Order: sequence, then structure tokens, then C-alpha cells
Amino acid sequence: MRTEQPKMIVLSEYRLPDYLIEETHLTFELHESYALVHARLVMQRNPGLDDTLPPLRLDGQQLELVDLALDGQQLSAVEYTLTANSLELQPQRAAFELTSTVRIEPQNNTALEGLYKSSGMFCTQCEAEGFRKITYYLDRPDVMSRFTTTIHAEKHSYPVLLSNGNPVASGEEENGRHWVTWEDPFKKPAYLFAIVAGDLWCVEDTFTTMSGREVALRMYVEPENLDKCQHGMDSLKKSMRWDEEKYGREYDLDIFMIVAVNDFNMGAMENKGLNIFNSSCVLAKAETATDAAHQRIESIVAHEYFHNWSGNRVTCRDWFQLSLKEGFTVFRDSQFSADMNSAVVKRIEDVAYLRTHQFAEDAGPMAHPVRPEAYMEISNFYTLTIYEKGAEVVRMLHTLLGEELFRKGSDLYFERHDGQAVTCDDFIAALETVSGSDLTQFKRWYSQAGTPRLAITDSYDAASQTYQLTVKQSCPDTPGQSNKQPFVIPLSMALLNAQGAAMPLQLANESAALTGERVLAVTEAEQTFTFIHVAEQPLPSLLRGFSAPVIMDYDYSRDALVFLLQHDTDGFNRWEAGQQLALQVIEEVVAQIYETDEPMLDTRLAEVFTALLAQDDLDPAMLAEFLALPSTGYIIEQYEHADPLAIHLAREYVSNQLAFALKAPMLERYQALRKVSLETAYVAQAEDFARRRLQNMLLAYLMRTEDLEVMDACLDQFGVADNMTERLAALACLVNSPFVDEAQKALESFAERFADDPLVMDQWFSVQAASLLPGGLERVQHLLHHPDFSIKNPNKVRAVVGAFSTQSTPNFHALDGSGYAFLADKVIELDRLNPQMAARMLSPLTRWQRFDLHQQELMQAQLKRIKNSGELSADLFEVLDKSLP
Ligand code: PHE
Ligand code: ZN
Repeated sequence: MRTEQPKMIVLSEYRLPDYLIEETHLTFELHESYALVHARLVMQRNPGLDDTLPPLRLDGQQLELVDLALDGQQLSAVEYTLTANSLELQPQRAAFELTSTVRIEPQNNTALEGLYKSSGMFCTQCEAEGFRKITYYLDRPDVMSRFTTTIHAEKHSYPVLLSNGNPVASGEEENGRHWVTWEDPFKKPAYLFAIVAGDLWCVEDTFTTMSGREVALRMYVEPENLDKCQHGMDSLKKSMRWDEEKYGREYDLDIFMIVAVNDFNMGAMENKGLNIFNSSCVLAKAETATDAAHQRIESIVAHEYFHNWSGNRVTCRDWFQLSLKEGFTVFRDSQFSADMNSAVVKRIEDVAYLRTHQFAEDAGPMAHPVRPEAYMEISNFYTLTIYEKGAEVVRMLHTLLGEELFRKGSDLYFERHDGQAVTCDDFIAALETVSGSDLTQFKRWYSQAGTPRLAITDSYDAASQTYQLTVKQSCPDTPGQSNKQPFVIPLSMALLNAQGAAMPLQLANESAALTGERVLAVTEAEQTFTFIHVAEQPLPSLLRGFSAPVIMDYDYSRDALVFLLQHDTDGFNRWEAGQQLALQVIEEVVAQIYETDEPMLDTRLAEVFTALLAQDDLDPAMLAEFLALPSTGYIIEQYEHADPLAIHLAREYVSNQLAFALKAPMLERYQALRKVSLETAYVAQAEDFARRRLQNMLLAYLMRTEDLEVMDACLDQFGVADNMTERLAALACLVNSPFVDEAQKALESFAERFADDPLVMDQWFSVQAASLLPGGLERVQHLLHHPDFSIKNPNKVRAVVGAFSTQSTPNFHALDGSGYAFLADKVIELDRLNPQMAARMLSPLTRWQRFDLHQQELMQAQLKRIKNSGELSADLFEVLDKSLP
């Protein structure tokens, strides 16, 4: 818990470290009720600074200092100063050795930061500032050191002892203990340090790098999970090959290890040579993990692997630069996933996620730039803005420079800064060098928060055959920032003729036309682009592929949207047209929902869906995306003040109407797809993902008709499917249907079948917590009392509390405020155990400004109640402080 009032850390106050740590020698003695950590630090005054010797201030938290010596001389208590967060002493020479022993209690560490125990194994999580909970250290990413680590533990319970780098020595001790020493030849910041000790089994493979070196690949898991490693291992090998081919990046150690742990705050961690994964983000087999989980694993394994260059070999100078590694690495993993699967579908998924969640963050009280200027608790800044918007910023650079120059720029960046801790400016500078362009204005994407808006209007003059596009950009004020300067916005566009073909594009000052699409660089607050030789009135296709993370307003008629959905030459924009059409239709129903039981529904939506379903040559993956209505969360974001209950009801109404209108063709298509699924073995590849996605999407629509034949089909799919994708989708349909008895039976048989598999039970919890049927609060209360639920396990918390508060709209937003009060209770409880989780789970309540007055008041009341509930962690304090008016 917090012992000092949290302070603001400010980018402009960055100073070089006074001292450096050349070598770090650690020895861990692991015991059941405590651990001793011996550290020998070979240090020196930072040679880049003057030759005075300022006091040395090491970071340290929750450490019990047992022993401290400087150059072999024991220090007495008067020779150093201890506070709750630091150890300060006065060096006597420019080069010295500091040795310390501390005692810590990993078994009582519920925050899951530093060294902790998870399901009988010891593991660590050091990013961002967890290393200071292991030993006294300069815990900042610009202090890079060579690590040697020895682990001692009891051999029977902890036969496997791992750390970064290569094992160099090992031995047995009396009393059944043993030890292993690891040496990491690469300098690294402490946040990339890791150890693991446990009774783990290992799946092995090898990879031959582009220069012909053989790398041993090992996945360490609990023995019951050995059959869930193949997909992760395949993903790893694909990632290693892809990074060589696409970025010229070769792996640099002889071993690459992945460890799966059950208790983990985040998805995974890129520790050098020893990635540690939340088991849900790496373990999968057909029977227990959905297609979505398989795809998520492929991308997270890639993400962590890619960090070996973008993050580890070249790291961040300070935590304000977090997006330097995260934005770039998310961009890289999204390119990888696009190459491995359907690129358009990947783009659609990413954009839907960004616009629903990151846009909401950017419009709320926690809004911050991609490179923040100040924070209290860095853990609160592992955000959608740093990750997803950061990736969009890199993507725009890629669009502006083009594939080839971007690659040159990334090569230069890695070459220039290998082994260094650098800034976002250094990344941009490398791109400037190779392209010769000035990216000064572009850098506003790093410093200005908020989602820019583009208002686009056009006019066509038949007589002169000219077409004008006028683009106005603006960006709303965000906390601490007003009067934003114009951004550089790459606007990818095409002009379509009446047949839907792309017309030639020639700007007034150009001598020749381009065909297809082009990227306009929007740089001013208002700008007009004049196209010449435009033979007929065009329909513009704008922001193709979502070429910039902005909200675009262009006044398309509904007929134009229908046309674009069927004919746009850009797959993403086809989908986007359909989304806008559906959104308009739903919004119309929202306006009527409290007035009438039978709101008027624009028939064009059902008509175009019917046409799409009848189109045999349409890729099933695309069809599934087209048929998916915008999520409730996304619709909420379209309102200044949303009524979540009306939006939920309207979306349900439209879905139901579509289901009845399209029942026959949907059933026919469903049955055809289901037949293929029955006849083919499960394969985790794009084509099969697409089929199952469409199949499940159709089933969900069909179940809305409450037809008994459909219900039987659903029960059949639930009962006999050989894979979790079909089984879970059927279960979700049942759980959300009025067939309560069938749903109950299905839930029971599911729980019985998968009782021993916590990752499957997480899905069982979450499908119920997310249910849209009334009575949600009682349901989650009940789930919390299930013997398999544990508030100490983040995956369980996300499955129950998270699923309820982000997906069960009508229950979470219940008019009596009971949903909000429930979340507040859980946040208060969590904060005592795991502050990072508490702060994360709170986020739905911080979005109060987006809602109607009634909801606003209820949400704020709960925020205040949390604030007054007693001593708060710095994590929770910061979020509350920023989100209360
Ligand atoms: N750096 C990790 C990743 O992106 C995320 C992480 C952050 C994990 C902090 C744990 C703690 O991949
Ligand atoms: Zn990352």
C-alpha cells in the first residue's frame, strides 16, 4: 500500500543517471516462506557527467535489508538512509562495488509484480518498475547492465530453474537443494530481467536462423498442458522467420524460452530470451481454445518475440517513450497477422477495437498523448493509446514513406541504436534521414492527445470536369491540452464511377493521372484538393484502409452506403460503409425505442444483407464481417451523451428484425457451413476461421427467431463439436436465449467436462457474466461464490467482473446503479490485493461523461465512494483523481 502521497513524474525533468551499473550479479535463495536476494553491483559514476560524486539513490520497495557493503566494507545504519522507496548512500570513488542482501516474501505477493508465486512456481514480472521489489537497484530503463543470475531452490518442487541468457553452471547441494547459474551476454535494463523456478515440463523444437545458427526453442508448462503447446510453438517459428524476411532481424541467443504462468496481470512479457506468458495467451488446442484465442496467441507470441529487437536490443530511455517499443511492436505484429491470415479482416478487427476502446479513452479523463508528459503511476500508462494509437502512428509513417523507405528507416534505427536506450525522436530521426523528409509537424501525433476529426465536403462541376474535396481537421481539447495544432493526416482515397470502378486521379497541378487510389497529405486546418479531367460525378471512397486514426464525417446518402458496401474496391471501406449504414438504422431506432414497440426500420439494411448472402463468390470472412452490426460499445461512442439501455434495446431490435427477415437464406447457409465443419478436422488457419465465424454469426442471428429447429441445431453443435469455437458459440447463444432449461443443462455439462481446465472455466465464467438477459447482477454474485473463482487470479477477475462491466450492457448500466456499485465493491476489494488490476477494472466507471445525466450521477457516486473507502494504492488514486470532476 501507499505510504507516501504519489508524486507526478514529468518528462521535462528527465536527467541522465548519476551512476551506471556495469555488471549485476544476483543470487536467489528460494524458500517456501521467504527468499533471500544477494546482489553484487559493479558500478561507476556516469562517465558522461562531471567528476563529482553525488549521493547514490537506489530504488527499492517492500524489501527487508539484511546486509549492505561498499567495496567489501560493511555499512552501518548511519552510513545509509532508507525510506519506503529508496536506499541512499555516499560513494567514495568513481568506480565501486555495492553488495546487498534483502529478504522478500514472494508467497505473499498478490500484486503479481516483482517475484511472486503462481500455482506452485516462482516467477517474476519486472516491467515497468517491479525490479525494485526484488533488490535495491537503479530501476530505470536507461541503466543497462550485464546480468549473471544464480538460483538456489529445493530440487524436488523446483527442478527447473531459469533466467535470461544461457545456463553456464549448475550443481547439487545437501538437503535436496540445487542451483543453476545463467549469464546474459546482452546488456539490458532491469525491466527485462526474469527468473522462473518450478516443476515445469518442456516442449522443444529448433529454429535455424538466416545465418545458419541453430536456436533451441523451449516452451515450459505444467505437465497437463503439454498438449497445448504446438500452436504457440508454430507461431513462434513463423514469427522468427517473418522478422528475418520482413525486417532483416535475426535472433541473437542460442536459446529462446517461453514459460506459461496462470497468474499474470497482462498478456505476456518480453524478458530477454525468457518470455513469460499469461497461460491464456499461449496455451491452446482445438478442444479448449477458440479460433479467436488461436489468433490472439499467434499475434502475442509474435509481439513478444518481435520485442527482442524493438524493445530489447533497442530499448526506451524512460517510460514516457513506452510507445517507442509498444506502438512499433504492435504495428509489427499486426503486419505479421495480416500476412498470416486475411489482411482485410485483420484491419477491420483492429479498427473496430481502436474506435471502440481507444477513441473512448482519448475522449475521457485519462486521455494522454502517445508520448505522455507526466504520470503518477507508470502501470496506468500501458494503455490503448500507447499500444493501439501508437501502432496507428507508426502505420501512418509507413503509409507516408512507403514500404521500401520505411524498411530502410527501421534498418537504420536498429543499426544506429543497437544496445542503447532511446526516444521516439530517435525513431523519427532515422526515418527522416532515409527519406530526406521533415517530420516535425508529423510529431504532433506524439505530443497532442485526442482523436482528430475530419469534416469532408465535395463538389463536382460537370462543365469544367473538376471535382473538389475540402477537408477540415480539428481536434477536441483534452485534459491539460487545448487549441491543438493541425496534424499530418494521410488520407487514402479513390473516386468511383457509377459502375464502382476507380477513376483516374489527377490533381490540378499535376501533369499525369494516377489510377486506383492515392494518399493525400492533409496538413492544414482546412485544405481543398482539386481533381481535373473527372469525366462524371464521382462517389468518393475516403480514408481507405482507415489510413489515419481519425473520425471522418462525410455526408453519404444511404443509397451511396449501400452502393459502397457492394462495390467499393477497398475491402475495408466496403465494411465501413455497411457499418455506417447499420449505425444510421440503429440510431433511428434508438430515437423511437421508448415511444413504440415497433420502430420503423429502414428496409435497405435487410435488402443489402440478403443480396450479400446470395452472392456466392463473396469471401465468407468478409461476409461475416459485413453481417456483424456495430458493437454496443461502438454505438455508445457515437453519442455525446448516450443512453446505454436504449442503445442496447435498439441494437437487439434491429438484430431480431434482420434475423426474421433473413431466416431462410441464413438457415440454408448455416446448414451448409455446419456440414463442412462436421466433415473436416479442426485446422487453425484463415480459411477455417472464416467458415466457423460465419457459421457462428448465422447461428446467433437464427437463434433470435426462437425457432425449435434452430434450437436443436444449436444443441447439436454444442454437443458434438470437436472444437471450442463451435461449442462456445453455441453455448453463448443458449445462455442468451429464453430457453433457460437447455442453457442450464448445457452450462452444467460444459462445467463437468472441463472442470479441470482453468482456461476453459474462464470462458464458462465469462459467457455467463456477459449474458444480456435480465438478472445479471445475481448471476455474477453467484459466479463469485463458485469454488473455481478466485479474486487473486486476474484471468478469473477479467472473466467475471470484466466481462460483466464491459459486455453485459443492460445489467451493468441498470437504472438503479446496482451494476456500478458492484464494480466499485470489487475495485475496492482488488486494490488491497492487486492495485494494477484494481485501476484497470475501474475504467468503465471513468467513462461517465459519455452517458446520460442519470448514469453520470450514479457512476460519479461510486467513484467518490471508492475514493473515500480508505487508503488507496497509487495506481487507483491516480485514476480516481483524474476521473472525478
Ligand atoms: N511489455 C509487455 C508487452 O507488451 C506488456 C507488459 C507490461 C506486461 C507490463 C507486464 C507488465 O508485451
Ligand atoms: Zn509489447
